[in-house]
Formats: sequence, structure tokens, C-alpha cells
Amino acid sequence: MNDPIQRHPTRAEQLDILTSLIAETAGPSATVLDLGCGTGYLQHLLGAKRQDLAVTGVDMNEISLAAATKRFEGWGDYHWVQGDLRALDAIDLPRQDYAVAVTCLTFHDLNDTEKQAVITWTASQLAEDGVLLLMDRIRLTEAALFPLQVALWKRLEQVHGFGMRGAATFDAYEVDLASNNSPGRLDDYQAWFKAVGLVSQVLHLHGNIMIIGATRPVAA
Ligand SMILES: C[S@@+](CC[C@H](N)C(=O)[O-])C[C@H]1O[C@@H](n2cnc3c(N)ncnc32)[C@H](O)[C@@H]1O
Repeated sequence: MNDPIQRHPTRAEQLDILTSLIAETAGPSATVLDLGCGTGYLQHLLGAKRQDLAVTGVDMNEISLAAATKRFEGWGDYHWVQGDLRALDAIDLPRQDYAVAVTCLTFHDLNDTEKQAVITWTASQLAEDGVLLLMDRIRLTEAALFPLQVALWKRLEQVHGFGMRGAATFDAYEVDLASNNSPGRLDDYQAWFKAVGLVSQVLHLHGNIMIIGATRPVAA
């Protein structure tokens, strides 16, 4: 399966890291919930590392889900659920108590209120020791640091031969933000996780795409 998303020079490495985090830490036959699963590219990569996981993919795009259903037919305990993350009550998951919830390049499609609601809902779907892994762009917030970000984008382009989504100026970056291009601020993510009793940490960051992990703290 080829990656349906081609515009990210660091995506292959970060998806390998993301799937390795799951493959290395999830117990036998662990349950995985993927929010915004698309056509199942993450499952394709994860399946190469672990075949025993029970996966539920959620996406609002019926065409993508149909492709995933066809691709993973006979793969075992896989479920593909049509659902809109902006209408969480209507999402009919086959189980609760997921060991892992993962979401990749989907949160920037949600506004901040929706992002927080999805985090709150997802925390309620996690097993006691469940982990949430969120990979997405983080919002650039400091105009004064923008030249350093531009230098990062430039280097990525030099190293990989093609660039990341960027902007020439901080003002242009802010103008480009839209309802379907609304990366969350790191501070907000940390506050949203904390508000539902999860501790969080940025596990990997490249360019401005982060993998953040969140879970309940070890009981004192
Ligand atoms: C950029 S794609 C990423 C797909 C996959 N996670 C990957 O990394 O290959 C974003 C996905 O999120 C889904 N999505 C966006 N907003 C959504 C929403 N409100 N509810 C459910 N899915 C949504 C889109 O349909 C799309 O499949």
C-alpha cells in the first residue's frame, strides 16, 4: 500500500516511530482505536509489526472506509466505523476500554472546541492504563521565533528534496489557518489532557509535527 499522503517529508519516519510505539508497548491482542483512520495506511504499517492487535478505525469519509474494509478483509478483529468526530455521541464503537487510541493528521481538521471534546471523549474510551497517541502539526504561536521555523522548513526541503507545508511570513501563516487547517497549540493540548486527568509528553517532534503521548499517571 502506498502512502496516500505525499506532502510530508518526515511522515514516513514519524509513522514508523508512531507504529513502533504501539507495537512495542501494546500487550497481546491489545485493542487500538484510530480516529481519522482514512484508508487504513496506519493499520497497514502497524500490521507489518503486529498481527494480533484488534483495531477499530473511525472516519467520516465513507469512501475511505470502504477502501479500508476491502483492503483488510480477513485480517482478523478489525472494525471500520463511520463517524464524525464533531458528533461524538453518534459514534457507535464496537467496544470500550481501548488500550491505545491513536490519531494521525486529523486534529487540525477540528476547531479547538472540537479537539478538546474529542480528547475528553477518547479519555473515556481508554482502559485504565490506556494510552493516547496524537500526531499532528502544532500551531506556530510566536512571531519572533518564526524565522527559526522557516530555517527548519528550508533545511527539511534541502535534505528531503521537497518541503513541508509552510509560509513566507508569520502573517501569511496565520492567514492560511482555516477551519480545516487549524493545528492546536501545544499549551492547549497539554491543558486539555490535564483537564481529563491525563499526563502528557511530546515524544517526537520534527518540523512542527509532533507525536504527543498521554495516559493516566501512576497511582501514588
Ligand atoms: C489527512 S487524513 C489522515 C488519514 C490517516 N490518519 C493517515 O495519516 O494516513 C485526515 C483524515 O481525517 C478524517 N477526518 C477529518 N475530519 C474528521 C471528522 N470530523 N470526523 C471523522 N474523520 C475526520 C478525514 O476524512 C481523513 O480521512
